[in-house]
Amino acid sequence: MNYIDLRSDTVTRPTPEMREAMAEAEVGDDVYGDDPTVNRLEAVAAEMLGKEAALFVPSGTMGNLTALLVHCQRGHEVIVGNQSHIYLNEAGGMAALGGIQACPLQNQSDGTLALDEILASIRTEDVHHPVTRLICLENTNNICGGVPLTSEYTRQVGELAHRNDLFLHIDGARIFNSAAAQNVPVKELVEPADSVMFCLSKGLAAPIGSMLVGTQKFITRARHIRKMLGGGMRQVGVVAAAGLISLERMTKRLSEDHARAKKLADGLRQVEGLAVDTNSPYTNMVYLNLSKDVSVNAQQITQKMKDLGVLVDPENARRFRLVTHYWIDDSAVEKTISAFQKALN
Ligand SMILES: Cc1ncc(COP(=O)(O)O)c(C=O)c1O
Repeated sequence: MNYIDLRSDTVTRPTPEMREAMAEAEVGDDVYGDDPTVNRLEAVAAEMLGKEAALFVPSGTMGNLTALLVHCQRGHEVIVGNQSHIYLNEAGGMAALGGIQACPLQNQSDGTLALDEILASIRTEDVHHPVTRLICLENTNNICGGVPLTSEYTRQVGELAHRNDLFLHIDGARIFNSAAAQNVPVKELVEPADSVMFCLSKGLAAPIGSMLVGTQKFITRARHIRKMLGGGMRQVGVVAAAGLISLERMTKRLSEDHARAKKLADGLRQVEGLAVDTNSPYTNMVYLNLSKDVSVNAQQITQKMKDLGVLVDPENARRFRLVTHYWIDDSAVEKTISAFQKALN
């Protein structure tokens, strides 16, 4: 069965153009620095984000972990949102593999960390304290609704970080969605950051891969850490070729996904039994709950939706996240709205 798959933008299959480019890609051994397609991808990524250098990594999780391992030593502390992917969904890698301690701060509903709380959580010099080294932001923040952080807010956090001798890392898995939603250049959104991770394998539709960007010095260190983590890849130009299409083409069409997410949310607001979050969507994610009077739970609705040909992601017993992407067209949006109507009947 050909499902309409709204579980995530990670489900995107490569486009026909990507498959062609992958078949024809020039390759070499990337651990030797010999893969011309990877080298081009890294150069394009660095240029687009306005940083000196970039590194191709297998996943967003490895990109974030690599950045944390470059910035921090064992016993250091990282200020991070309590609703962030790094804190919640990366298997505790910073603690397990880096000996790094998280200092989780409450994410505000707009995805930000309050500036006064960041300031208050920076450790003072004291023999009892860990050393605060890094602040992490997530843009867009996934769990807070796919909400984009502004360049002004990021600038304030960057200034606060650098005034206090800290680094700023952005988990920008969906940074191009943020740029598209706010109609600002991606360079401007990440300008204050010392390092940024972003994913090719989500809304940008590449099958695999994320990029880490920063100064030349940072990337040289990151290349070493990537090797240590087992992320040094060989003839990986076959994958980087798809990533180049992600950057050159797919970044330009994300507002289509945002418009379809809005259409989906508007349609679902008319379905009895569903309560779409007030401001949803900000980008490509629609968050909604089952209304109080609905007796079935989200798992049961998920199964009914599957029987109707639509895959959705239950966040908990009452809540869903639906994500639009390249493979969701207008007709998929219509079919999803009518499937929810049927599932709730
Ligand atoms: C905000 C955010 N950061 C990082 C990641 C990790 O990416 P990966 O699944 O490629 O490890 C994800 C994955 O969904 C994410 O949503």
